Amino acid sequence: MASNELHDTATALVAEGKGILAADESDGTIKKRFDSIDVESTEDNRRAYRELLFTTEGAENYVSGVILFDETIRQSASDGTPFPKLLASKGVIPGIKVDIGAKPLALAEGETITEGLDGLRTRLEEYRELGARFAKWRATYSISDHTPSEYCVWTNAHALARYAALCQEAGLVPIVEPEVLMDGDHDLHSSSRTTGRVLQAVYTELHDQRIDLRGTLLKPNMVLSGYGATNRASIDEVAEATLDCLYRHVPAAVPGIAFLSGGQSDEDATAHLNAMNAHGPHPWQLSFSYGRALQAPALKAWRGLPENVEAAQRAYYHRAKMNGAARTGMYAPELEREAVPA
Ligand code: 13P
Repeated sequence: MASNELHDTATALVAEGKGILAADESDGTIKKRFDSIDVESTEDNRRAYRELLFTTEGAENYVSGVILFDETIRQSASDGTPFPKLLASKGVIPGIKVDIGAKPLALAEGETITEGLDGLRTRLEEYRELGARFAKWRATYSISDHTPSEYCVWTNAHALARYAALCQEAGLVPIVEPEVLMDGDHDLHSSSRTTGRVLQAVYTELHDQRIDLRGTLLKPNMVLSGYGATNRASIDEVAEATLDCLYRHVPAAVPGIAFLSGGQSDEDATAHLNAMNAHGPHPWQLSFSYGRALQAPALKAWRGLPENVEAAQRAYYHRAKMNGAARTGMYAPELEREAVPA
């Protein structure tokens, strides 16, 4: 039925040289980001900050789509243009975060299940009306001696697939985001094994629940050493371990894999993506769907002041351009010095 449109949208989101901006921070998360620059998280500050990002001239050369939050998809630029319309006018595809967060998983201390399935069919219809053409749902898993449990891995995979089915029925491309968190002191091998278990469960459930993989995208973590590990893996080791994991578990029918940055520094996130693409071509496009790694320098430059908007836009444009280069393996750290963020 709508499958050609889904395929086209998924393919456009991972077009050559482009990736996705995740600007779908929930109220709690954006408050944390604003706290770091001493800006109050009011509705208008959130609107002004998102406007700054969405009106950055030229960013559309590197950004194919933007993931919005429920509040943001209903907001407008200062000239009255609704954000989804503003983005679409630049050829940028609006998307929407539809999960309502990772909540404690019953009888599984320290583990979470992502919620938001109740009433989702109706919400998706409304989001499509508002201009969204793709959606996002994030599940999280932490690594410790006893986690993630099989229970956590499979219940989250089942929920991700239920979400994906509802999205495809509503004509939205589901971005499937299983995020293995990199907090802790685990080594690369442990990260790889856990990421593999999670991906295997996710693709089993997607298959069982009749998902057309060509109309989906995967948004996984990269396979890193835990942030607290003493001997952290190098850029090339991360690229190799991540590729190995993806080749084992992600079907070639998936058009693209758009990584989350997950607390890596902005330059590390770019360098890792670049290293993977330098080993290409691969069966899927390898792209980005970064939140922090695209926004951190812009947020710092802005500090809530209108006179800093231009500097913040330059910083955001620069990160988008660097990640655009990493899409084809053409990034080099020397390019960072071309940056002009004031
Ligand atoms: P980060 O790139 O900051 O991890 O955010 C991406 C995202 O959308 C997490 O759900």
